[in-house]
Amino acid sequence: MDIINVDYSTKIPNNVNLAEDRQVLKALEGWHPGYLDWWNDMGPEGFQESLVYLRTAVSVDPKGWAKFDYVRMPEYRWGILLAPQDPDRKVNFGQHLGEKAWQEVPGEYRAMLRRLVVVQGDTEPASVEQQRHLGKTAPSLYDMRNLFQVNVEEGRHLWAMVYLLQKYFGRDGREEADELLRRRSGDADAPRMLGAFNEATPDWLSFFMFTYFTDRDGKMQLEALAQSGFDPLSRTCRFMLTEEAHHMFVGETGVTRVIQRTCEAMKQAGINDPNNIEAVRKLGVIDLPTIQKKANMHFSLTLDLFGNEISTNAANAFHAGLKGRYREDRLKDDHQLESGTYPVLRLIDGKIQNEEVPALSALNMRLRDDYVVDANVGVGRWNKVIESFGIPFQIKLPHVAFHRHIGEFASVMTDVEGNILTDAEWNKRRGEFLPSDDDRVFIESLMQPQFEPAKFASWIAPPKVGIDNKPGEFEYVKIA
Ligand SMILES: [Fe+2]
Ligand SMILES: [Fe+2]
Repeated sequence: MDIINVDYSTKIPNNVNLAEDRQVLKALEGWHPGYLDWWNDMGPEGFQESLVYLRTAVSVDPKGWAKFDYVRMPEYRWGILLAPQDPDRKVNFGQHLGEKAWQEVPGEYRAMLRRLVVVQGDTEPASVEQQRHLGKTAPSLYDMRNLFQVNVEEGRHLWAMVYLLQKYFGRDGREEADELLRRRSGDADAPRMLGAFNEATPDWLSFFMFTYFTDRDGKMQLEALAQSGFDPLSRTCRFMLTEEAHHMFVGETGVTRVIQRTCEAMKQAGINDPNNIEAVRKLGVIDLPTIQKKANMHFSLTLDLFGNEISTNAANAFHAGLKGRYREDRLKDDHQLESGTYPVLRLIDGKIQNEEVPALSALNMRLRDDYVVDANVGVGRWNKVIESFGIPFQIKLPHVAFHRHIGEFASVMTDVEGNILTDAEWNKRRGEFLPSDDDRVFIESLMQPQFEPAKFASWIAPPKVGIDNKPGEFEYVKIA
């Protein structure tokens, strides 16, 4: 069995030797029809019969792991792919530091590990559900294809987590796998597990912000789980990260192209004041202050996904060797954190201030800090575009206390600088910080489909290069 190239001879493509793992293969085959029902009900609406130019993973070799071809999405070959096993791999943090990495679930950590897999698994189908209406308003076939690529890969990520549940967690795992298909984003009775995955993604600017900010939370969580002492989880997450990179590329370049188009239109019309919103909107582009508000919204919702700043669960998962820090293997310390502290931004006596807390308790805070650094890089690139047009405006990430529903700052309202506001002030100024109904109506008015090859909606610039080096006129989706 070749662990690099994927076996397509079983119904479920895989590089985990499913052909000889009959019990797990049977469980997965049993789950498959329910998955397809879910995909048909909750996947991209109106395009299930269209031919989409998609990449499919055919190998886990970093040098060439995907092939591109036209596929109808329900016929996409969702598979189980794990990064190659390193026989010498060790647990590299926590109380089991230095032990051989586990190939089976350690009994005492079974519940904790299952919970980590389920929470990660739940986010994957949720974003497909959130984005299912967007195809109809795609600003180009290029963008439509990217949306569907992200969607089928989130579907594959669900498969990845379901494989772990069915292979390693017996009957409980099979039940959890079924529950992952039962919950629905935004459903009153059976919502998805995390807040940001129950919000609507009503328009394409939201989609780009979501893939930039929220898929990046996915990256951070996967990076932390890729460090796991439970080797199958680590290998699964390492391969998912290669796919995840494209999702954030879609987000970063998507927002860049929106900004670029806005700046171009402003220059052409001789408008240099970014706050002349009415005049900018007349050009059929999205004004920069509204783009800022969308960023405020998606950044703040995403920060909630990191959980409480000070967390016993996070400490336990680290101590047990199940979930590490971002790039744990490259950090230079004792990897046990039994002593030492970490500064956590807290609300103390009504003031936002740093407090040193035991490092083991502050792991969510630390991962969130790493996230903010990572998220700021692309924001810097957006600002370079604005600067190149000489327009006096900068996108800024809001303060971490802004618009929070989980953690230290859930109980206060602040402005984007982190100044605490009274309820009355918040209600009065909310529209300065977050998209108002008017903003939403305006953005929606721009969401007119553009399905002709090589053409783009008024509010977004074409990409610099095509997918798979295809030329501009390439028909990325053949709409049926
Ligand atoms: Fe994912
Ligand atoms: Fe993703």
